[in-house]
Amino acid sequence: MAIQWSGLSPELLLRLERGSGQPLRAQLETGLREAIRSGRLPGGERLPSSRELARELGVSRGLVQDCYSQLLSEGYLTSQTGSATRVAAGAHQPPPEPARRREPSPRLIADFRSGVPDLSSFPRGDWVWAARKACTSVASADLDYGDARGSRVLRDVLAGYLRRVRAADADPDRVIVCAGFAQGLVLVLQTLAQAGVRCAAFEDPGYGTAETSETLRAAAATGMRAAHVPVDDLGIDVAALEASGAQAVVVTPAHQSPTGVVLTARRRHALLDWAARHDAFVIEDDYDSEFRYDKEPVGALQGLDPGRVFTIGTASKALAPALRLGWVLAPPPLAGAVAAAKEISDRGCATLDQLALAALLESGRYDRHLRRMRAVYAGRRAALIAALAQHAPGIKLTGLAAGFHAVAHLPATADEQAVTAAARDRLVGLYGLCGYRANAAAAPPQLVLGFGNVGERAIEPGIAAVADLLS
Ligand SMILES: Cc1ncc(COP(=O)(O)O)c(C=O)c1O
Repeated sequence: MAIQWSGLSPELLLRLERGSGQPLRAQLETGLREAIRSGRLPGGERLPSSRELARELGVSRGLVQDCYSQLLSEGYLTSQTGSATRVAAGAHQPPPEPARRREPSPRLIADFRSGVPDLSSFPRGDWVWAARKACTSVASADLDYGDARGSRVLRDVLAGYLRRVRAADADPDRVIVCAGFAQGLVLVLQTLAQAGVRCAAFEDPGYGTAETSETLRAAAATGMRAAHVPVDDLGIDVAALEASGAQAVVVTPAHQSPTGVVLTARRRHALLDWAARHDAFVIEDDYDSEFRYDKEPVGALQGLDPGRVFTIGTASKALAPALRLGWVLAPPPLAGAVAAAKEISDRGCATLDQLALAALLESGRYDRHLRRMRAVYAGRRAALIAALAQHAPGIKLTGLAAGFHAVAHLPATADEQAVTAAARDRLVGLYGLCGYRANAAAAPPQLVLGFGNVGERAIEPGIAAVADLLS
């Protein structure tokens, strides 16, 4: 509501900076315009007379008159002979409508969304310990801008970890700490685009293969063409990759996302042979290799050809996506370019978080957490297998060697989308594999069942509630 002043209002709060170099009239005009646009001076508000305002601001009356007449001609002010100058009605630009509050989603009996670890098991105590250690022990000099590749301490620890656990050919100078796989991939694609790569291939089905995915958008942003290469029971089809004309490929060899297939030894060699013959690069998405149930984890592909393979790892599955921490292990000639891309992007990840992760890894708490989580996920995996065997025995489950998702093969006549929609009505979150395909038409109906963030006790009731939809 407009205030009817009786005199000058100190609330007008217009400040003129005399030393700024900007003419006083321009300052006064801008200040008034902004006050009106923002609604601070509402429609109908009476302005002080030019004489009062001039006295208040210590400027000439002519300057204020010029300013008022400019804003009158722009429609911000109105004035009628014999009455005061006022703010014009409607001159205020209302702020954009606040985004509508999303309806809270109903509590599901079970949500089989994939890609999410057990968020309630995040080792809060260990992280608090590590963050405190990082904060108390960091040298003041290390709180400055640092090496864009990341903290030397974390890069040393990660290189040792990747050598020990992933049999990677890791050297701290070639480790670039990044904000998860998502940023790591962008940095690598930017680097390869600069190096002349014009086409990158993606697994189909694959993580980020659906047309709307960030992964494909990241490739498009570099100007690269994206090719889709089918995956079969042995992993990516290298003959089809060869035919695609790509000079780089993004793969998930340890546990294909989403089919769960482990790239066979023969295919690994064929893939590296393709890269060598075409002077091409492999980008290894090593997202959940820590969780393998039946056998020891397969080593990283990078260890077999460190000159052609980029490995990108992430703390999102082992700890939590919210940390936004990952790492790129780059081939020697390209590590500098990845680091330069990181420098341009954000100058490096937060040092204290990096030091906390280093402390977790170094202290053995990270390994201890992984051991604990392997047992948790193994229990959920067994519960899923048992629930399907009991309630939907005709449904085949594959891709269970590692990680925390599996693929359920529906009868050929089933409609993936109808099943997931009907399941949602019964308060069960099911997700179709079509979200991972470049072209969902004519693909067999399948579901990706994530069991990372669904409690073991919710699995059986969740499957029981939708069993008739699956069979
Ligand atoms: C196969 C795969 N790679 C990478 C990511 C992304 O990881 P980040 O959180 O590190 O960006 C995901 C996330 O679900 C994933 O499923």
